[in-house]
Amino acid sequence: MEQKHEYYSLKELKNNAPKLFGVKTNTKLDDMFYTIVEENNSFVKKPLNGLPYLSVINITGIPDTGKSLFGEQFALIQASLGYKVLFVTVESPAEFLYTSFKMKSKFLNLDFDKIEENIFVIDVSKNDLFRENHKYLLETMEFVIKEKKTTITVIDSITGLYEHKEVMARQIVRLFYNFLKKYKQTAILISQKRSSQSSDSAEAAGGLAVAHIVDGTIVFDKKVIENKWDSNLYNLPLGSVLRTLRIDGCRLTGHDTKTYVFEITEAGTINILMPLEDFVKKNKE
Ligand SMILES: Nc1ncnc2c1ncn2[C@@H]1O[C@H](COP(=O)(O)OP(=O)(O)OP(=O)(O)O)[C@@H](O)[C@H]1O
Ligand SMILES: [Mg+2]
Repeated sequence: MEQKHEYYSLKELKNNAPKLFGVKTNTKLDDMFYTIVEENNSFVKKPLNGLPYLSVINITGIPDTGKSLFGEQFALIQASLGYKVLFVTVESPAEFLYTSFKMKSKFLNLDFDKIEENIFVIDVSKNDLFRENHKYLLETMEFVIKEKKTTITVIDSITGLYEHKEVMARQIVRLFYNFLKKYKQTAILISQKRSSQSSDSAEAAGGLAVAHIVDGTIVFDKKVIENKWDSNLYNLPLGSVLRTLRIDGCRLTGHDTKTYVFEITEAGTINILMPLEDFVKKNKE
């Protein structure tokens, strides 16, 4: 029998190479991924204007750092732009999503009628079958992606799919990653950290499985101002919370490596303010 050799010449890969452009989050993150273009015989950084198209990005952080809020906001923005979004909710029951989506879209001045039509939800939180049988969950996701032609997927959270079986983390994350690639989704996987894990690292429950497999990681963090030194440094009252995020790596494009300060607005939306270094400098002046 003739052996089939599976390899490509670089040239053959040309036709399948994805275009590099941004998928909007409408936050400052859109300017934090960039590409290099040639202009007047020199190379300049050009913001991608979003998350890299077709990337699978891991959003990680300890509890209460704004990961879910960010995932929801991304879904809302994309749906309001007319793109179809698959939202897989593993933690929060689907009916809670409705109220929070509605309030946020009002606050962000987005067209909720459009959003209602463009977001499709799979509720894993109340269905143990989905949680235990990933093949069944993937079949349902495949159905929605094909039937509704979604191009964006948010899974909140991927770590919730391997509770009690963390030795399987790598295999499970790989399964979902390959699936999202196959169906050409630009995706966000939210992953939870334990408080015992260093809060500013990319490690999630189950080890580093998620960070090693996905295309990029964004770490969400928070710091409670507990002493006078920090209170002076950040010009924040004792007991208040400083929220930060940082792109911890991306294989597909260049990116800003600075830590940014952000706030959670009263409507539960993410507003990225400025690099931490500028935030500290501003307070010194
Ligand atoms: N509507 C809102 N108004 C004001 N603050 C809010 C609102 N919704 C959420 N928050 C605040 O934002 C915090 C972060 O919420 P979020 O649910 O995104 O955390 P998370 O990182 O997903 O946490 P977990 O890992 O536990 O899922 C909440 O703990 C809450 O303090
Ligand atoms: Mg959450």
